[in-house]
Amino acid sequence: MLAGERGEAVQLAMEILTRVGDVYGAEKMIEIASAHTVMTYYRIIMGAGVEICEKFAELGARYCVPTTLDPAGMDLKQWRELKIPEDYAERQMRIVKAQEKLGGIPIWTCTPYLHGNIPMPGQDLAWSESSAVVFANSVMGARTNRLTAVVDMAAGIVGRAPKFGLHLDENRQGKILVRINVKSKTLADSDYPAIGYFVGKQVADEIPVLTGVPRNVSTDQLKNMGAAMAASGSVALYHIPGVTPEARNIDKNFQKRKWDEVLDLDLKELKQTKEEMCTVNSGEVDFVTVGCPHYSIEEIRKLATLLEGKKIHKRTKFWIYTTRHVEMLAKRAGYSSIIEASGAQILTETCMLVSPTDIYGFKTLMTDSGKCAYYGPGLCKTEVLYGSIEDCVETAINGSYNKSKSQW
Ligand code: F3S
Repeated sequence: MLAGERGEAVQLAMEILTRVGDVYGAEKMIEIASAHTVMTYYRIIMGAGVEICEKFAELGARYCVPTTLDPAGMDLKQWRELKIPEDYAERQMRIVKAQEKLGGIPIWTCTPYLHGNIPMPGQDLAWSESSAVVFANSVMGARTNRLTAVVDMAAGIVGRAPKFGLHLDENRQGKILVRINVKSKTLADSDYPAIGYFVGKQVADEIPVLTGVPRNVSTDQLKNMGAAMAASGSVALYHIPGVTPEARNIDKNFQKRKWDEVLDLDLKELKQTKEEMCTVNSGEVDFVTVGCPHYSIEEIRKLATLLEGKKIHKRTKFWIYTTRHVEMLAKRAGYSSIIEASGAQILTETCMLVSPTDIYGFKTLMTDSGKCAYYGPGLCKTEVLYGSIEDCVETAINGSYNKSKSQW
């Protein structure tokens, strides 16, 4: 491949991968089961990203393993109604075309593991998108480094990744014990992003082992916790004894383990973390946004129940981000009509952070997402409030947030 025997595109992809492998001291390449690429949103990858996608497509490259696509930089169906500038849309559509030519699976989501790119435990992958990486490693027991844009595409094209980091057994051990000292029965949905936010800040890029998480923790709770952990820190793998697959090894030696560090998270820290996730305390809110990572059908169902018979305040936009697939299910289940009747809107195949939400001039954003709370001020250029989905709905109805009524 490196010698060019399989064409220029494969040679170029292999050159990229061998360089990365050299930097990280990889001794060999390994075959991967799938790739997931973030070379999808114009807002972040910009003109250079468009050119790279097109270059590979023009050279005749094709993904040789299933390669799913992260969200696009705008709602691909409703971009005109959303007043996305024409020149921006034109560049985004060039990425769409190039990725289609390369054979990318057009799910346009950061939750590929819920939409057909479902790895088996122990499988090696080449994924980027930090929230998906931490889910694949931790919850599914697959193995991927937190790759970057371009490297993820190159891996999909050659079906290989350099073997280093989290592909190696010895680098998957938990290092820091985090004891969650909150009664597990009292942990609510809105606690999980805050736990993730706290842990990410404390452990940076180390591998935490979390105790105190109930065995019946849901997929969505893990999805939302991991996304926050991978945003406030750069965590790519965590273990939860009794829950995540690789924690079995820890279970056996749990009492005897020597930890590099032991952290405690009690109710006080949890509350402090939720406060830290907000840049303001109260006031008018003109943008309520959820679905980071993309909302599942269960989260949409819950939201529809809360919005039934209610009306969103006229000053406030309430945008819910999900996949085209979940949107279709929501329509068939009758959730979409309830949500739309309230004045809220479901947007698909993009999100509040990778589309140009800054063009609307929103002042204050409220979200139930730890990742969105972390990146919101920078990317949406707004003040940020974090709250439960109940808080988000109430805020959208009132057009303002009152901390004393918060359901934290
Ligand atoms: Fe997904 Fe966008 Fe959040 S890509 S994890 S919804 S920042």
